[in-house]
Amino acid sequence: MLDRYNRKINYLRISVTDRCNLRCTYCMPEDGIAQVKHEDILTFDEITAFIKEAVSLGVNKVRITGGEPLVRKGIVDLVRMIAKISGIDDLSMTTNAVLMSQFAQPLWDAGLRRINVSLDTLDIEKFKLITRGGNINDVFKGLEEAKRVGFNPIKINCVIDKSSNEPDAIAVKEFAISNGFEVRFIPMMNLEQGIFGQVEGGEGGNCSSCNRLRLTANGYIKPCLFSDLGFNIRELGARIAIQTAIGQKPESGSQNLEGEFYNIGG
Ligand code: 5AD
Ligand code: SF4
Repeated sequence: MLDRYNRKINYLRISVTDRCNLRCTYCMPEDGIAQVKHEDILTFDEITAFIKEAVSLGVNKVRITGGEPLVRKGIVDLVRMIAKISGIDDLSMTTNAVLMSQFAQPLWDAGLRRINVSLDTLDIEKFKLITRGGNINDVFKGLEEAKRVGFNPIKINCVIDKSSNEPDAIAVKEFAISNGFEVRFIPMMNLEQGIFGQVEGGEGGNCSSCNRLRLTANGYIKPCLFSDLGFNIRELGARIAIQTAIGQKPESGSQNLEGEFYNIGG
């Protein structure tokens, strides 16, 4: 479907949970979050029915995000259900890979073929600080297993402070290249302040060519990360909600005073 600015909207990002096993400083408040009520979280059937409707309206690219998607109970079953939907040409997942060493093979068997992994530094202590307690060795093990299983491409999402020439970014890039991974540098964003920038090596952050819709874990379809617009898919029904979101997709982002990355999925 085309929006008002002639952008072809074909990419749906689905946040399957607002929970995460890390607490990245730029993503989550330290003391945790007001978690979405269990009964508000979309069921697997609701998610797959929604995707089918989206596909019938022109979506052919789907990304599973969070929070951290691997902490959603039954995620492998959900991936299997989504992978079976005909009309999706590109299915991917964004993950912190902390649990990937145990999930890589089952996810592959369920039909997932490519992943993006968040990694901002190679330094054990710095990783622990950024993620408020995470163990970088879990991520390394997860990446290794994903590579062994055959995921391709494996892309590294590296959030940068100021530039992709800063030492952590350079180290992540060298690590990625030596392992056959791709790397994308994501400028640190601030939803409330409306600070966002273009992803280096990726497509995100370029409003004039933005092809995205986002589904939150509690069932709101959002046309823009940097806007408070959101439409309840349970109240409106999937089809009307999608059409309304596309119809109201802003020309460019401004600010988002309500959402956070952990519930909109970056
Ligand atoms: N700025 C930029 N990227 C962010 N992410 C989370 N919060 C921010 C932020 N404030 C990214 C993570 C991950 C993806 C889910 O979103 O690094 O790659
Ligand atoms: Fe979790 Fe990803 Fe947010 Fe970090 S950036 S807290 S890994 S959802």
